[in-house]
Amino acid sequence: VSLTIIRPDDWHCHLRFGAVLADTVRATAGIFNRAIIMPNLYPPIYTIAEAIKYRSAIQEVCASSEFNPLMTLYFNTGITRSLLQEAVQYPWFKAVKLYPAGVTTNSEHGVKNLKDIFYVCELLQEFKVRLLVHGESNENSVDVFEREAHFIEHYLQPLTQNFPDLKIVLEHITTRQAVSFVKNSSDNIAATITPHHLLYNRNDLLGHGLRPHLYCAPVLKTELDRAALVKAATSGDAKFFLGTDSAPHAISKKESSCGCAGIYNSPVAIEAYAQVFELAGELHNLERFASINGAKFYDMPINTDTITLVQEEWVVPEVMRLGDSEVRPMLAGEKIRWQVVKGRRYV
Ligand code: DOR
Ligand code: ZN
Repeated sequence: VSLTIIRPDDWHCHLRFGAVLADTVRATAGIFNRAIIMPNLYPPIYTIAEAIKYRSAIQEVCASSEFNPLMTLYFNTGITRSLLQEAVQYPWFKAVKLYPAGVTTNSEHGVKNLKDIFYVCELLQEFKVRLLVHGESNENSVDVFEREAHFIEHYLQPLTQNFPDLKIVLEHITTRQAVSFVKNSSDNIAATITPHHLLYNRNDLLGHGLRPHLYCAPVLKTELDRAALVKAATSGDAKFFLGTDSAPHAISKKESSCGCAGIYNSPVAIEAYAQVFELAGELHNLERFASINGAKFYDMPINTDTITLVQEEWVVPEVMRLGDSEVRPMLAGEKIRWQVVKGRRYV
């Protein structure tokens, strides 16, 4: 059995910087034509000059390929009118990413009080720049499993009402509340869904010993939530599209007394999605989710080449070396039913 689809894009990806960059770029550029690159480096990407430098470093790795890294800026009070005037001149500049302070990796510089985001959002709406949201409330009184639903009710709902023309992507959604919010919102609101939130629930994370390599933010939720995500992703609905949130951390940082949030899934992402869609009986909708819906939301052309997946079992490596660190990828040591034959580009 084989499946050929238009080459996919990854609308949410962490490539990091420094020694690991060459390996993360190769894994992503080998499959995806474009990727939205997250700005949560340390220190974050605040300015266009920093984004240009980061983009050049990415392109240096894959100079021979068509891979097109699309850059984002880290939401902060320095997002001014003059910065946006400069930013929108670059076709690869796509969005500003909002991190509520404290909810995830390198979010320390994020927004402390979410009530303060309105001024910048007004500018984004005016300049037609998309807002990408890590949708979790950061108040300590909010339970970690409730952060996303709380954020939607208390911050996202008012935001969409105040800025009806602002295009927003609710990133890496994890709950049935997020699915129904996005479905019931205007066409300016969309969501990315990761492979790990489609594959796992919180029992997998906590129910049979603590699995640090399944720890991510937003944290995995219930089986009902996972099922709602699978239904949304595999339905073909234009509001939902592929975003891996591939986010590598060295094994020592994951297997630690205070483990980092993030799952490295780029080397198995499209294969894992295919497995989820197949199990749901909706393989025919993989192409919409992976290769069409996101491009349309970002007003970009659909890719013109294809990739082919075949049903051929392989075992995901236990450990992968990224630069000078060792990382345990998603599905490490496990069998996966799909394999990419044509399309892992030479980069
Ligand atoms: O699990 C996550 N890891 N979620 C995020 O939002 C950030 C990411 C990272 O950068 O490691
Ligand atoms: Zn992310």
